[in-house]
Amino acid sequence: MTPDRSAADLDLPELDAVRDLVARAERPVVLTGAGMSAESGVPTFRDAQTGLWERYSPEQLATEEAFLADPGLVWSWYLWRARMVRGVEPNAGHRAVAAWQARVPGLVVATQNVDDLHERAGADVLAHLHGSLFRFRCAECEAPAEVDVAAAHDGGHAPGSEADLEGLLRTEPPVCTACAAGRVRPDIVWFGEMLPADAWDATYAALDSCDLCVVVGTSGLVQPAASLPFVALGAGAPVVEVNPDVTELSSAVTHRLAGPAGLVLPALLA
Ligand SMILES: NC(=O)c1ccc[n+]([C@@H]2O[C@H](COP(=O)([O-])OP(=O)(O)OC[C@H]3O[C@@H](n4cnc5c(N)ncnc54)[C@H](O)[C@@H]3O)[C@@H](O)[C@H]2O)c1
Ligand SMILES: [Zn+2]
Repeated sequence: MTPDRSAADLDLPELDAVRDLVARAERPVVLTGAGMSAESGVPTFRDAQTGLWERYSPEQLATEEAFLADPGLVWSWYLWRARMVRGVEPNAGHRAVAAWQARVPGLVVATQNVDDLHERAGADVLAHLHGSLFRFRCAECEAPAEVDVAAAHDGGHAPGSEADLEGLLRTEPPVCTACAAGRVRPDIVWFGEMLPADAWDATYAALDSCDLCVVVGTSGLVQPAASLPFVALGAGAPVVEVNPDVTELSSAVTHRLAGPAGLVLPALLA
């Protein structure tokens, strides 16, 4: 994306219709995925497979089998991602969602993202459907654990850089202080694991009674999160997709705004 693009350069024929929906909504739900944070510099999984990470795909690292087989590799990948997120800022899209929620307190944010950029922009997040990079728990006894991601190593490299990753590689996860047996793991929903029931139920209930759903930056490929917009459609609410690319969801939505979140959301909510 060229830095000086503005929303006026985008072709958004449905913008006015969606603005009307936004103006009337009292119980909107904003569902976000990795594309929401792309303009902050947090790569989506597809973008992330460059450089050193060509060697390791998320599908290979984000599983319990991977953690058991090579705890140091998986642990250092998550530490590196947490450090990367610490080093970036919320973008104009995150700020627009937070401002909308300040105006409409009934607005719910539910995210697949494991970063904390919505919160750092000032929004209250109902659900982190796939967990958080900044929460940790024992892989055996589930006890929560404190981990200082900033203190992970003193290599002196820019957090989130490839050099930082090289320095972190195969840092072993700490042993749980509660049971003194299990390894500490990130509190992330790995492939093959269940979503946290409370986050799922709260999101489902919000969608079932919403009057507008805005889906931002998700490919609609990762289940069961990809099914959530259909809960809003089933409840009779309009569903708006904000994504520069056509996705699995595109043919089902009520309105599509084809552009990046950092331009489209501020234009929509201005
Ligand atoms: N920031 C994060 O927390 C983060 C980053 C990478 C992956 N993930 C995890 O990856 C999984 C992948 O699912 P997903 O659907 O969230 O992501 P995804 O990587 O499958 O899809 C990203 C989507 O974002 C769109 N996109 C890219 N740039 C955009 C922009 N500027 N504005 C709007 N949309 C944009 C792409 O077209 C794509 O459809 C999730 O489980 C998520 O937890 C999270
Ligand atoms: Zn334990």
